[in-house]
Amino acid sequence: MATAASSEPTRRDFLYIATGTAAVVGAASAVWPFIDQMNPDASVQALATIEVNIGAVEEGQSITVLWRGKPVFIRHRTAKEIEEARAVPVDQLPDPTAENAALPADAPATDENRAIKPEWLVMIGVCTHLGCVPLGQQGDFGGWFCPCHGSHYDTAGRIRKGPAPRNLDVPIYSYVNDTTLRVG
Ligand code: FES
Repeated sequence: MATAASSEPTRRDFLYIATGTAAVVGAASAVWPFIDQMNPDASVQALATIEVNIGAVEEGQSITVLWRGKPVFIRHRTAKEIEEARAVPVDQLPDPTAENAALPADAPATDENRAIKPEWLVMIGVCTHLGCVPLGQQGDFGGWFCPCHGSHYDTAGRIRKGPAPRNLDVPIYSYVNDTTLRVG
């Protein structure tokens, strides 16, 4: 009997569990993809495809939209950003593959393979290390910087320095017209 009684959670255990749950919820905002994959609900499924008006996004500006529970970065790149991305030899990249869902897995990480139209870069805004959301136009390569553990991405969203193992993922997307982008 003593054994059965001791297996019941005490009030103190409950408080500990509740605290642990709060910590998990707090961490969830920085780890969107894992939560999403484990628990896709109807509203997320309903947004399998989204259309985004990019007509008002000026050169040098970015927007972030939510798609399947994840942030998607849409950047209107400057000529300088495109030029810098294209000047990098692919064989010097930590991840030499495009990580573009529209291309074969071994497609090289050229800038052309990262962006359908060079002026628009579309990527899942989730660090490939442990899932934080990187900050735009920061870091050593003028692209994105993930402050969680110091990963630097370039102006094509390719990992250049830090612990992230892969380039930021490029989702399936297409152009409905000049000002409308369909993601998914
Ligand atoms: S989650 Fe981005 S560097 Fe670790």
